Amino acid sequence: MRITEAKFAGSCTRASNKPSRKLPEFAFIGRSNVGKSSLINMLCGNRRLAKTSATPGKTKLINHFLINDNWYLVDLPGYGFAKISKEAREELRSMINDYIRNSEEMVLLFVLVDSRHDIQKIDQEFLAGLGENGIPFAIIFTKGDKLGPNALKAQVERDKAILSEQWEELPPMFVSSAETGAGKEEILEYIEKYL
Ligand code: GTP
Ligand code: MG
Repeated sequence: MRITEAKFAGSCTRASNKPSRKLPEFAFIGRSNVGKSSLINMLCGNRRLAKTSATPGKTKLINHFLINDNWYLVDLPGYGFAKISKEAREELRSMINDYIRNSEEMVLLFVLVDSRHDIQKIDQEFLAGLGENGIPFAIIFTKGDKLGPNALKAQVERDKAILSEQWEELPPMFVSSAETGAGKEEILEYIEKYL
């Protein structure tokens, strides 16, 4: 699939307030600063679509982008951002949970994991919650340009081993880089299968 049109379609804090058009939704989430907004911009070929920042916690709303007038790409706020108040963190958590449990159009959730480190406890806890709620997901290892090819492969294998302790069957996995465009075709092809 080629993305020929990507338009910002609105921000919301609850699934009940999302854009009213009923179209399949593919959502992106991950620890704050993992590179969600950069990945979304890379997939859409538009560097200014989702706001990126070197400071974690930039995305504090649920943002819908209408793609090819056919499906929504959804940018969710990052989880696990420590440098905000407990109340703000709780509000983000409830926003995320409400969306992923109540958005009937959500087809799949892409969970982004930084390819440079072992998958973290907070990611594993988040994935466990998805399992408990029967929410289909795939994993994208981000910032794939930051490691050499061998180190990258080894890290993915290590993460698979860690995940295998928790999961009988591993989810689909992709490696991406917002810098080189790696993973773009595979991810868009995977989305296309559901459309
Ligand atoms: P929040 O919305 O703040 O939670 O962050 P986010 O997950 O949307 O991350 P964002 O895309 O804003 O990127 C965070 C930082 O990582 C920025 O400085 C990006 O330039 C950098 N970054 C993101 N993706 C990549 C990548 O694939 N390669 C490299 N080298 N840097 C990246
Ligand atoms: Mg962001």
